[in-house]
Amino acid sequence: MELLDGKKISNDIKDEIAAEVAAMKQRGERAPHLAAVLVGNDGASLTYVGAKVRSCERVGFDSTLVKYETDVTEAELLAKIDELNNDDAIDGFIVQLPLPKHIDEQKVIMAIDPSKDVDGFHPTNFGKMALDMETFLPATPFGVMELLDRYKIETSGKHCVVIGRSHIVGRPMSILMGRKGNPGDSTVTLTHSRTQNLEAICKQADIVISALGVPNFVKAEMVKEGAVVVDVGIHRIPDNSEKGYHITGDVDFEAVSKKASYITPVPGGVGAMTIAMLLKNTLIAGQNRKR
Ligand code: GUN
Repeated sequence: MELLDGKKISNDIKDEIAAEVAAMKQRGERAPHLAAVLVGNDGASLTYVGAKVRSCERVGFDSTLVKYETDVTEAELLAKIDELNNDDAIDGFIVQLPLPKHIDEQKVIMAIDPSKDVDGFHPTNFGKMALDMETFLPATPFGVMELLDRYKIETSGKHCVVIGRSHIVGRPMSILMGRKGNPGDSTVTLTHSRTQNLEAICKQADIVISALGVPNFVKAEMVKEGAVVVDVGIHRIPDNSEKGYHITGDVDFEAVSKKASYITPVPGGVGAMTIAMLLKNTLIAGQNRKR
């Protein structure tokens, strides 16, 4: 078994981005500028957005964090998006999800200018992805593709089983793995909560990508000997440690790692890649900016 080391690869990518930023600055161009909009006090969202902003510093980007209380109105949020869309100093921005229930997420995503949508969530960008056009790819699936690429995992003709059909991970993941190219060219099965015989389907997979959001869902009995296992889950499990919790994924790592040929750890796997790919999208937005 070999670990797919997202921490190491994401650090390599950040170094590459930092070098590109240094070159931009040397040419007299300003650094890419990412803004992140955070609503409320969800612990996981605070952690993710904090990590995104810190990573900007590490690669030499400018960053802006826009924070709102949970009771911000949809109209206020849409006004801020309009402002960010029209601010020439901002190359790309994200609105951290989930949003409180009184705000229509789809409406918010639709309001983002696709040329600044570095999350790749706008229907224009999602459609371009499905049609093999150049665009911003959603950061988590993009990170999985990059990991498979950098470890030279053969995906052509393989059976890839994706677990979970979320708009952020499972659905785009299934599209990317089925697209032409390597990584890609896989025969994809997209499974979800209504799938019958999920265990049996999973057992046929050469590549399993789990983005279901259930801790320790993927058990050793569900995985074929030698399969490549990618765990997108990130769960905080309360415990008696100093932190009060530990992080685990969708996969029973202990048991599954004994059968897998390659496997991502949690933490240190896909999560680290997500941030690196958001930075990559922001770099592209900066390089594409109108001058
Ligand atoms: N919530 C969980 N993952 C993501 C992500 O990649 N982007 C945003 N904006 N929100 C998220």
